[in-house]
Amino acid sequence: MNIIVTGASSGIGFELVKTLCQNAENKVVGIARNEAKLHRLSLQTSGNFYPIPFDLSAPDTSPLIQQIQSVTPTVDVLINNAGLLINQPFTQLTDANWQQIFEVNVFAVARLTRALYPLLTKPGAHVVNIGSMGGYMGSAKFPGLSAYSAAKAAVAVMSECLAEEWQPDGIKVNCLALGAVQTEMLNAAFPHYTAPLQAHEMAAWIAHFAQFGNRYFNGKVLPVSVTTP
Ligand SMILES: NC(=O)c1ccc[n+]([C@@H]2O[C@H](COP(=O)([O-])OP(=O)(O)OC[C@H]3O[C@@H](n4cnc5c(N)ncnc54)[C@H](OP(=O)(O)O)[C@@H]3O)[C@@H](O)[C@H]2O)c1
Repeated sequence: MNIIVTGASSGIGFELVKTLCQNAENKVVGIARNEAKLHRLSLQTSGNFYPIPFDLSAPDTSPLIQQIQSVTPTVDVLINNAGLLINQPFTQLTDANWQQIFEVNVFAVARLTRALYPLLTKPGAHVVNIGSMGGYMGSAKFPGLSAYSAAKAAVAVMSECLAEEWQPDGIKVNCLALGAVQTEMLNAAFPHYTAPLQAHEMAAWIAHFAQFGNRYFNGKVLPVSVTTP
C-alpha cells in the first residue's frame, strides 16, 4: 500500500512508520519538520521509507504534493497524526496559541486531506485522523488543555462529515480518539503521569487499523483508551 504518515519524526508517528515499513510491499511517506529526526528514522527502516521535511502549517501544500507524487501517483492510506499541544491555563492561552494549535491540529489536516483528494482514487482509500480522548464528547477533561481538546473535537466532527461527503467516491474516513501514550507530548500534558502504552504499542494498533479498518468502519470516532487520562 501507498501510505502517508504526518508527524513521523517522533512519538507515535515515528513508530508507525517503522511498523508500516516492515511490510516490504508498503511505500511509506513520512512528513515532519525535523530533518535530523527523519534521517534517524530512515536509518531504522529499509528502502521503502520516503521522508519529506515539511512544515504542515505552511499555507501552500503544492511543493509537498509534488514530492509525494514523485514517490507515488496514488495514496491508499493517509494518517493525519501530526499534532501540537500547548498546556496552558485558559486565561493564559493567547490568540496566537489558539491559532497555532488549530493550525496544526485542524487547518493543516483539512488542507493536506483536500490537497491529496485527487490521489485517493483507489476504492476504499482510508483517511485516518488521529484525535484524542480530550476531544471526545463526554469524556473526562483536564485543566490546561482547552485549546488542544477543542481542536481535537473539531477534527473528530470533521472526520464524520467528510466520511459522508466522500462516501460516493468510496473514500473511508475515521478518527481515532487516543488515550494516553508515553511520548514527548504526553510529558507536556501530564508531566508526572506514566501512560499504560508505549508509542510502539499504540503504533502497531493504528497501523493495523489504517490498513484494514476501512472494511469495518466509516465516519466513526473511535475511543482507543483503557485509562483516564
Ligand atoms: N501521546 C498521547 O498520549 C496522545 C494522546 C491522544 C492523542 N495523541 C495524538 O497523537 C498524535 C501523535 O502524538 P505524539 O504523542 O506522538 O506527539 P509528539 O511525539 O509530540 O509528535 C508530534 C509530531 O507532530 C509533528 N508536527 C508538529 N507540528 C508540525 C508541523 N507544523 N508540521 C509538520 N509536523 C509537525 C512533530 O514533528 P516536527 O516537530 O519534526 O515537525 C512530531 O513528529 C498527535 O496528533 C496527538 O495529538 C497523543
